[in-house]
Amino acid sequence: MPRLFDPLSLRGITFSNRIAVSPMCQYSAVEGCATDWHLVHLGGLAQGGAGLVLTEAAAVSPEGRISPQDLGLWDNRQIEPLTRITRFIASQGAVAGIQLAHAGRKAGTEAPWRGVSTTLPLSAGGWIPLAPSALAFDEGWATPAALDEAGIAAILRAFTEATKRSLDAGFKVVELHAAHGYLLHQFLSPLANRRTDHYGGSFENRTRLLREVAQAVRATWPEHLPLFVRISAKDWAEGGWDVDEAVELCRGLRELGVDLVDVSSGGLVPRAKIPVAPGYQVPFAQRIRTEANIPTATVGLITEPAQAQSILTGDRADLVLLGRELLRNPRWPLRAAQELGAEIPWPAQYARAAAGTVTVR
Ligand SMILES: Cc1cc2nc3c(=O)[nH]c(=O)nc-3n(C[C@H](O)[C@H](O)[C@H](O)COP(=O)(O)O)c2cc1C
Repeated sequence: MPRLFDPLSLRGITFSNRIAVSPMCQYSAVEGCATDWHLVHLGGLAQGGAGLVLTEAAAVSPEGRISPQDLGLWDNRQIEPLTRITRFIASQGAVAGIQLAHAGRKAGTEAPWRGVSTTLPLSAGGWIPLAPSALAFDEGWATPAALDEAGIAAILRAFTEATKRSLDAGFKVVELHAAHGYLLHQFLSPLANRRTDHYGGSFENRTRLLREVAQAVRATWPEHLPLFVRISAKDWAEGGWDVDEAVELCRGLRELGVDLVDVSSGGLVPRAKIPVAPGYQVPFAQRIRTEANIPTATVGLITEPAQAQSILTGDRADLVLLGRELLRNPRWPLRAAQELGAEIPWPAQYARAAAGTVTVR
């Protein structure tokens, strides 16, 4: 069996292959609740054969939303629409995972296709974002309110409560979003975190909130279910968070019971110079995997089956995440199996017809 289609087991969960749907915001929720769009979008990706289907960032609190249309899990009302989706994903032989997030200073914007990319004014339904320090993301963006101790405690509680709801909604994987310049990443980076208390300054202090969230979530999330953390391995900016610190952080996360680090990069500062190219983030996943001794996922411009396969056979990552390529071609895993000579089941409703063994009635 080609490595891409080897099952992967983490704790009590087995993914049928090493292909995962990368989290992708759809800006299509209503008051944080998943809609028909999410069922069809995520359901279609599960039909396509990925072993793991991760939802988009789901906000752990209303102020943690990137936009008013974000998915959320701060209220029990948001559980049921997700339950329908996880049930369908499971029926397709895939594992359902949820990404839990807080957008911090990047909260309160509009869906990208609506035109305005900075913070929504209060008069248009925006809100004052929360962050480690009162530093705006960029010109034109709102200056966030710096979280006090009580505010940080509330963030911890929000992640824990959302974790309980994730279980109730039928998810088998929780991924904490600590990448792309959102709240947990803002705490990690000296470029966004200028605090002088025990959440800022030293490496130990800047990583404290993420470690506390990981610990609290691990204590809440059942022992037999895997916990992932998505990080940005570096900010691609002078004076920012970098790979050496990321490796050290991941050693700590492993000790706390995190099962896999999903390694991305960037997002903390605007206009970072990123040398984007196929697989450009793979070396970070490889370094963390080797030096922190923890399973990793890699992501970013992975589009070809042979490319994905060689990342795995080269022991550079354990799991391959695809984003935009799966939007272009939601049945990419089925095509990849064919190309690499693996046998994976098609949905029964399609299988015979797609194989050309059924005559038209
Ligand atoms: C429409 C869209 C929405 C995204 N939303 C999220 C998100 O909610 N959480 C996240 O961690 N990354 C998000 N990303 C980043 C992707 O998960 C992925 O890391 C990135 O697109 C690079 O992978 P790709 O080259 O395969 O698309 C998003 C990307 C796209 C294109």
